[in-house]
Amino acid sequence: MKRVLVATGGGDCPGLNAVIRAIVYRASQEKDWEVLGSIQAFNGVLWEPPEIVVLDRKKVAGIHFRGGTIIETTNIGGPFAWPVKNDDGTWTTVDRSDEMIRKIKYMNIDAVINIGGDGSQRISKRLYDKGLNIIGVPKTIDNDLRSTDSTFGFQTAVQVATDAVDKLVTTAASHNRVFFLEVMGRDAGWIALNAAVAGGAEVCLIPEIPYDINKVFEALERRFHHDRGFAVVVVAEGARPIDGETVSEKSDIVGYENKILGGISRKIMKDLKKIGFKREMRETVLGHLQRGGVPIAYDRVLSAQFGVKAFEMVLNKEYGKMVSYQHPNFVGVPFEEAIKEPNLVTPDTALVKTARGLGICLGN
Ligand code: F6P
Repeated sequence: MKRVLVATGGGDCPGLNAVIRAIVYRASQEKDWEVLGSIQAFNGVLWEPPEIVVLDRKKVAGIHFRGGTIIETTNIGGPFAWPVKNDDGTWTTVDRSDEMIRKIKYMNIDAVINIGGDGSQRISKRLYDKGLNIIGVPKTIDNDLRSTDSTFGFQTAVQVATDAVDKLVTTAASHNRVFFLEVMGRDAGWIALNAAVAGGAEVCLIPEIPYDINKVFEALERRFHHDRGFAVVVVAEGARPIDGETVSEKSDIVGYENKILGGISRKIMKDLKKIGFKREMRETVLGHLQRGGVPIAYDRVLSAQFGVKAFEMVLNKEYGKMVSYQHPNFVGVPFEEAIKEPNLVTPDTALVKTARGLGICLGN
């Protein structure tokens, strides 16, 4: 019997379960393959005793439309930075990657499929360089991985954000208000830009195009005539003013390395008031509603394709690669290429031109 171990790492994302199900269903068509799942990314391997579960058809039946991941996930620590408490109560991190690879071999596991975003794919590459047979599957609502046309979960997040714009438009119009909708995306403005275009927002502020508060003022003011009017502004959580920084804080959780973004809408509202903007304003921070719950059909289909392809790459021993969607095909790209640089919005991106063509103010 051959064994493949599946792990889901980083923030959860709609479609993770659909990928897991697709791997298991495809593997079940081979006589001699068993699929295992490591609980909470690679923690399941590193814990004593380990927490590894068997993923068979019965276990994964019907999970394709369930949000989250049945094998749990974490974005804290990892095999290369395992948090350890010192005697004096302070924390440090240790590299347990060699031990983890030994454990995986001892468990007679032939290959690993690591489903995750850029951080997880970096871990995959380092593990591959150390001799682990590993394949990556790109996951992120942020759509910030360059070497694939799309990542699963992204379109679901865009749909959630667009639904929110639609709802805010009706309340904004009824009250003659300006509404700010703060959406996720980390350093990438893809969710914001897509939701702004889909929902017909007046202003969209993204990390890649630092905004001028005076331009935002002017664009909003143009929406009002004799004190009547309304506007919706979609703001990416990573947006920042031309002369300032993003609004973020550092987590006090040991091993959590990402900055915690949030609060830029509140800052913009304050700054607008400071320069004399008098309209009534409200904000909605969408947060993790964009990550939880049912994946839309597009993401389920994408997840199914990623899962089936990932297992077929295991069969073909195409290790050291991440599955990539390059329309209309699914191919493997070396980890090195997959993590080289992030997929960010650029000024010449077609969607930026479309947004400008629709008259959406991008804050510059
Ligand atoms: O990378 C996905 C993402 O949802 C980002 O858009 C967001 O900034 C971050 O994760 C939130 O992470 P956490 O769930 O750890 O708060």
